[in-house]
Amino acid sequence: MEFSIKTLSPESVKSGCVVLGVHRDQDLTPAAKRVDQAARGALKKALCDLPAKPGSTLLLRGLPGVAAERVLLVALGERKEFSENAYRDSMRGAANALKDLDVKDATLFLVDTKVNSRPVSWNLRHAVLGTREAFYRFDLLKTQKKPDASSLSHVTLPLASNAQLEQALAEAQATADGADLARTLGNLPSNICTPSYLAEEAKKLARQFKLQLEVLERRDLERLGMGAFLAVTNASHQPPKLIVLRYNGAGAKGKPRAPLLALVGKGITFDTGGISLKPAGEMDEMKFDMSGAGSVLGTIRALAGMEAPVNVVGVIPTCENMPGGHATKPGDVVTTLSGQTVEILNTDAEGRLILCDALTYAARFEPDAVIDVATLTGACVVALGHVATGLFANDDKLAEEIRDAADDAWDRVWQMPLWDDYQEQLRSNFADFANIGGRPGGSITAACFLARFTREMRWAHLDIAGTAWKSGREKGSTARPVPLLVRFALRHAGKK
Ligand code: BES
Ligand code: MN
Ligand code: ZN
Repeated sequence: MEFSIKTLSPESVKSGCVVLGVHRDQDLTPAAKRVDQAARGALKKALCDLPAKPGSTLLLRGLPGVAAERVLLVALGERKEFSENAYRDSMRGAANALKDLDVKDATLFLVDTKVNSRPVSWNLRHAVLGTREAFYRFDLLKTQKKPDASSLSHVTLPLASNAQLEQALAEAQATADGADLARTLGNLPSNICTPSYLAEEAKKLARQFKLQLEVLERRDLERLGMGAFLAVTNASHQPPKLIVLRYNGAGAKGKPRAPLLALVGKGITFDTGGISLKPAGEMDEMKFDMSGAGSVLGTIRALAGMEAPVNVVGVIPTCENMPGGHATKPGDVVTTLSGQTVEILNTDAEGRLILCDALTYAARFEPDAVIDVATLTGACVVALGHVATGLFANDDKLAEEIRDAADDAWDRVWQMPLWDDYQEQLRSNFADFANIGGRPGGSITAACFLARFTREMRWAHLDIAGTAWKSGREKGSTARPVPLLVRFALRHAGKK
C-alpha cells in the first residue's frame, strides 16, 4: 500500500473514495463543509443516518457537484472530546469500511483533524499505522484465501507537504513493515515458528538490510556457561538459539562513538510451563510467548528499513519450554552466565531464566541502554489489563524517555516500582536466590529477578504479557511494542 502527501480539494479530487470526518450534532470538519456546499446540502441531509459512535461510517455515492464517486463519512464524536483514542478509532473505522469497498485509491481528509496538542505529523503517523493495521491479513495457513476483496493500493493524505511530514511518512511506513513482521511471527504456530525459524528470519533480515548476524548454538551456550537458558531448553527437541542481530545506522566508528541501544527479546516459541505444567485452557496462546523476540526483529526491520541513524543490537534467546524426561525439575539449581546460582522452584517462570543470561551477554556490547521485552508474567495482566505495558527501570531518565516515547507512539506503558523491598521474596535456602517470589507483586518480583543481572547497565524491562496479543474472536498478535521501540530509538538518538 502506497501513501502520498498532497494538498487537494475534497469536492474536486478524482478519488475512488473521499473520507471525511463529522463531529457530533452535524458539526462538519472544514473538508466536509466544502463537500456539503458543493453538493448543495446533500451531505448534511444524509447525516441523520450516520451513527454517533466514533468510528461509525456512512457511505454516500454519486453526490452532485462532487468529483469523487464515493464519499465516506466517519463519525468523530464530540469535537471538544476529540482525543488520541477517538482519532485512532475513527481511522480504524474508516479503514475497515474501505476494506469492504472495491476501491483502488482513497483520500483521507480525516487526517487533518486536530488531536489535542499533537502536531500534524502525529496524525500522519497514526493514519498510516492504523490503515496498515486494518489491512493486515493472516491467511498464510488457510487453503481458501479470501478473494482479494480490498484492492486499495493508494492512499492520499491531503496535507501541505514538507520535509518533516515526508520523514514522518517514511518512518510510519517502515514501522508498519516492522509491525507486520512482528505480527506474523507472533501469529505463526509453534510447529512452524520454532527457534530455528526465528534464526532464519534474522538471517533474511541480515541479508536484505546488510546487518551483522551471529547465531549461537547449544554448544556455544554450553561453552559460555548459560546454565539458566540451557535449563529451560532441556526437554525440547528443537535446538535453542541465541540470535544477535546488529544494525549500525549511526556508523560503527565516529567519535565520540554513537550510543548503542541493546534490545533483548524473550523468544519462547511455546511455553507449556515445563514440569510445572500449565492448565489446558487457552494454552494455545502460549505460541505468542515469543512476542518479545518478534518485536525486537520487527523494530530492527523498521529502523533498518527507514535507514535510521541509530545503532541497535538485538539479543534474542529463543527455545521451547517443554516437559519430558530431560526436563528441569522444581528445586533444581543452575549457575547463570553471571555466576550467580538460581533455585528453579517453578519451571513455568522460564522467561526470566532465558533473559537473565541474555542480559548478561548483552553487557559485552557496552550498550548505552538495554531494554528487554517479554511476555513475562500473568501478574502483569492482572495489574494493568490489556491497555498498558508494564515498565520497570533502574534509571529514572531512561524510564522517562520510554514513557515519553510510549505516549508519542500511543503504545502506552505504566511504570511499576522496582524497589529493593521486593527482593527478599526471591530468597532461597539452597541457592543465591529463587526464580519465583510468590503471588504478591508477581510482575514486580519477576523484574526484581532481572534487576540482579543488570546492575551495571542502564536498563528497562517491558512486560508485554497483557498487550502483545488479543484473545477471543479477534485473537492475534498486536505487534506491540514495535511502535514504542521505534519511536524510542529515534528520540533517543536525538531525532524527534
Ligand atoms: N509466558 C508466561 C506469562 C504469561 C501468562 C503471559 C499468561 C501471558 C499470559 C510466563 O512464562 C509464565 O508462565 N509466568 C508465570 C510465572 C509464575 C510461575 C511465577 C505466571 O505468570 O503464571
Ligand atoms: Mn511460563
Ligand atoms: Zn513464558
